[in-house]
Amino acid sequence: MLSIDQVSACGVVPVVVLEDAAQAVPTAKALLKGGINAMEITFRTAAAKESIARVAAEVPEMIVGAGTVVNVQQVHDAVDAGAKFIVSPGSAEDVIAEAMKLNVPITPGVVTPSEIMLGLKLGVKVFKFFPAESFGGLKTIKALSGPFPQIKFIPTGGINQANAAEYFKNPKIQAVGGSWMVTKDMVNAGDFDGIAEKSAAATALFKEIRG
Ligand code: 3PG
Repeated sequence: MLSIDQVSACGVVPVVVLEDAAQAVPTAKALLKGGINAMEITFRTAAAKESIARVAAEVPEMIVGAGTVVNVQQVHDAVDAGAKFIVSPGSAEDVIAEAMKLNVPITPGVVTPSEIMLGLKLGVKVFKFFPAESFGGLKTIKALSGPFPQIKFIPTGGINQANAAEYFKNPKIQAVGGSWMVTKDMVNAGDFDGIAEKSAAATALFKEIRG
């Protein structure tokens, strides 16, 4: 089974929304060019499953995962398409348990101690903290790390090149998630050079801080 460490090795997990599966491979290649070797393709569009399948088949260096997975059916759709990891905006027991059963790493979304306790019960060690900036950002992560010193977070939601550094400096941060290096507008405009450039800046920032 792939580990969350492998998924988050470059420090940034891009949240990708694709309207058209034809955009999947060029987007994956642009992210790779910028040093990002894992991507979350969200189940927010009808193109998600096909997009995951294309990246899995055509860009083997990219670790492709599924995001915005909110039910058990989507866990199966994602894994069938070739997703290597699952991200959920929240914490549903059946969704977490199904991913675990299929041996696919899952980062469920949390903002409260009770959600963390549910995940811990099911064996989760790295959680998505979402929506990060709306729920107190680093200040809340520091508070949650008191009772839960054993876990790490991938904060997502409102993070960008300007505020990522403060997260990277905290040892409880596994990586950050976000769409700033691969916005819908950039994808739709075919701005793959821009995606590669912003990805390179993000991964360089992580390296600069974490070494
Ligand atoms: C997510 O779905 O994880 C967030 O919408 C990504 O947040 P961002 O667009 O603020 O980076």
